[in-house]
Amino acid sequence: MSVLNGKKILLGVSGGIAAYKTASLVRLFIKAGAHVQVIMTPASKDFVTPLTLSTLSRKPVFSSFYNEDDQEAEWNNHVELGLWADLMLVAPATANTMSKMTNGNCDNLLIATYLSAKCPVYVAPAMDLDMYKHPSTIASFTALQKFGNTIIPAESGELASGLSGEGRMAEPENIVAFIESDLESKLPLKGKKFLITAGPTYEAIDPVRFIGNHSSGKMGFDIASSAANLGAEVVLVSGPTHFKTNHPSILLIPVVSAQEMYKACHAHFSQMDVVIAAAAVADYRPKTVATQKIKKSADNFVIELEKTKDILLSLGEIKKNQFLIGFALETENEIENAKLKIQKKNLDLIVLNSLQDEGAGFKKATNKVTFIDKDFNIEPMELKPKEEVADDILNKIKAYFHD
Ligand code: CTP
Repeated sequence: MSVLNGKKILLGVSGGIAAYKTASLVRLFIKAGAHVQVIMTPASKDFVTPLTLSTLSRKPVFSSFYNEDDQEAEWNNHVELGLWADLMLVAPATANTMSKMTNGNCDNLLIATYLSAKCPVYVAPAMDLDMYKHPSTIASFTALQKFGNTIIPAESGELASGLSGEGRMAEPENIVAFIESDLESKLPLKGKKFLITAGPTYEAIDPVRFIGNHSSGKMGFDIASSAANLGAEVVLVSGPTHFKTNHPSILLIPVVSAQEMYKACHAHFSQMDVVIAAAAVADYRPKTVATQKIKKSADNFVIELEKTKDILLSLGEIKKNQFLIGFALETENEIENAKLKIQKKNLDLIVLNSLQDEGAGFKKATNKVTFIDKDFNIEPMELKPKEEVADDILNKIKAYFHD
């Protein structure tokens, strides 16, 4: 999945021949899952039509502060546009537009929006080779970079003038790849390795029966997605669940029993920076597993159980620098029991679910949790979708690494 998936992109198009390439650019952004709002300078409309770009971006294109054809329509609010965006790209950026961006010469919607934007801004210049090398252009590059903007260097090749050299706008594929890798390198959990457990475990009684629980695995999968979207490399060890993932940064290791989960976790633990144990691991399993299906006979039937290994406890015993997060599901004396679990399992943070809370727990799309850290700071959270609970957990981890 592209890092651009779900991102809101403002594409500012200025008036150069390379504007025709923005059709491909919009297509690539949409294909990557981004939302694109195109803003054109009046001059750019001579090179590519607003209809082309609005069709490809699936949104009306803006090019002036108000809609000339519809006097009743609202004016195009550059401040709102600037705040809406996760990133802005000016492509092609002509020498004229770059000079205006540098000097705050705000005579069109594109520049007004640029000046209002709080998001990262990328600039893909396009011009003839002598213009590209002119000291005033170089001064614009320097100023724009000083403002915190990122220049996507022009490429060398045949130019519209017939000359050959540097100045050609980077190819749309290269612009998208440049932005993707720049965003990826700045993700807050880039380079961090996460081990996450999810789902139930099934403990076999015989070849067709097992002891299991109602955990769906959703919480663990949501945490894995949030972590991977923030740049982490995730090993997700999951018991039986219908959830799937195709995120390239998530390695899914499917397991069935607590013992298999234990082995998979220990195989990866030493390389990990963060462990989040969201699985509902069976605490007991049948002492012996019948090799053949057990036939019914007696009226009463007793299965002798033995303890499974506590995975989280065993990781807490050998942890070095790993940040260890456990879940606790309690029905009474919640806070006190959770605090005891923090100490017993050597945790950095516990996420406490109370079954007394309506909307929390197994098979629900929502969860209401309380965070308790190893210094016993207690933070109760609102009832919210599990995706948002996952984000809250990730915020705690980001704060740990960046504060
Ligand atoms: N856990 C684990 N391995 C086990 C049991 C639990 O890794 N065999 C983890 C869970 O993934 C969870 C945490 O330990 O993060 C707490 O599990 P919970 O069942 O609430 O508590 P227990 O320690 O098993 O104690 P009890 O059942 O007595 O409340």
